[in-house]
Amino acid sequence: MSKTRFAIIGAGNIAAAYAAAFKQCPALELIAIADINAENSSKIAAGTNARIYRTYKELYECEPFLNAVIVSTPPNLHEEISCFFLNKGISVLCEKPLCTNLFGAVQIASAALKSSAVFAMASKFRYCRDLNTARDIIGSGTLGKILQVENSFNSTVDMSNRWNSNREIAGGGVLIDNGTHSVDIVRFLIGPIIEVFAIDGGNTSWLDVEENVIVLAKTVSETVATIDLSWGIDKSKPYFVSVYGTDGTLHIGWRESKYKLHKSQDWIIFGDGYDKIEAFTGKLCNFANAVAGKESLLTNIDDALASVVAIDAAYRSLETRQWQPVRQLEVSAITDVNEYSTSALSAVR
Ligand SMILES: NC(=O)c1ccc[n+]([C@@H]2O[C@H](COP(=O)([O-])OP(=O)(O)OC[C@H]3O[C@@H](n4cnc5c(N)ncnc54)[C@H](O)[C@@H]3O)[C@@H](O)[C@H]2O)c1
Repeated sequence: MSKTRFAIIGAGNIAAAYAAAFKQCPALELIAIADINAENSSKIAAGTNARIYRTYKELYECEPFLNAVIVSTPPNLHEEISCFFLNKGISVLCEKPLCTNLFGAVQIASAALKSSAVFAMASKFRYCRDLNTARDIIGSGTLGKILQVENSFNSTVDMSNRWNSNREIAGGGVLIDNGTHSVDIVRFLIGPIIEVFAIDGGNTSWLDVEENVIVLAKTVSETVATIDLSWGIDKSKPYFVSVYGTDGTLHIGWRESKYKLHKSQDWIIFGDGYDKIEAFTGKLCNFANAVAGKESLLTNIDDALASVVAIDAAYRSLETRQWQPVRQLEVSAITDVNEYSTSALSAVR
C-alpha cells in the first residue's frame, strides 16, 4: 500500500513535534523539508530520508509525488504558502494561528474551498483524549446546564528575542498565539462564541505586543467562558480547562482529568491529562486519512476561520474596551474576499 507523502515547510520548534509524530505513523512518509535555515532542516531530517530544500517553491518543483505539506513557518507566511500549495492541488495542514489577520484567513479559506485538496488548521487540543471525553460528558447532560468554563494557558516564556513578540510576523502577542487554542477549545466543548470582552492583564517583559490578557466570552448557549492567557505569569494551575455545570464540576488537567457531581463526595478520574505526542500523532493521522479519503477531518476550515474571527473580535475589544460581537462566518457563504480587507472585522492592530 502506498504511503501518504508529506513535506514540512518550516523546520523549527513545532516541526520537531511533527517529526516525532511521523515515527508513530508508519502509513505516512516525510519525504522533504524546506527551510531558509538549512541547519534547522538537517535537525528535523535526522534519521529520515527526507530531502532538504531552501524554499518551498524549489521543494514543489523537485517533488512531483508530494501529497501534503505541513506549514509550520511563522504565521505571517501561512497565507502565502498555504494558498500556493492549495492552488497546486496539494493538501495543507497549517499550524495555528491560521493567519495574522482576517483578510488573509479568508483568502486561505477561499483557496481551500476552490481546491481539490484537503485543508486543516492544526488544532492540537481537538486530538487530546481527555478533551474529547469531557465533551462527551458535557454532551450527555451529566453536569447539568453548563454555566461557566475557564481556560488558562499561563507560563513564563521569554519571547523577547523570538518572532512571537513581533507584531508584523505574529499578528499580535499572547492573545493570537495561545488564544487561538482557547477559542477553539471553548467552541469545541460548548459551542459558538457570540461575544467577547478582552482586558490587558499587564506587562511583565515590556514587549511590543500584549503579554498577559484575560478574555470573557459568551457562547450561543449562554455559557460564560473566562480565558486567562499569559507569557509572563506562572500561575502553576494543574488544570487548563474547568467546566462548571448546575449539577457538577469537571477539570481537564495536564496530568489528570476528573469530574464530580454536586450530590457526590467523590471525584471520578477520566483521563491522564495532555499527551503532546498523542495529540500531534492524532491530528497527523486524521489529516492523512482525510487526504487518503478514508475518514473525515475532525476540524475543518470553518473551525479555523471561527478562531480567527473570535481573536479578531478580542483585539477590537482590547482597543475599544467594549464587548464585541463575534460574527458567525461560514466559508461557503463568502462571496467576495475583498469585503474583508476593509470591513470592520479586519484587524485594527
Ligand atoms: N500547535 C502548537 O502547540 C504550537 C506550538 C508552537 C508553535 N506553533 C506554531 O507553529 C508555527 C512555527 O512556530 P515555531 O515555534 O516552530 O517557530 P520557529 O521559529 O521555531 O520555527 C519556524 C521555522 O520556519 C523557518 N522559516 C522562516 N521563514 C521561512 C520561509 N520563508 N520558508 C521556509 N521556512 C521558513 C525558520 O527558519 C524556522 O526554522 C507558528 O505558526 C506557531 O504559532 C504551534
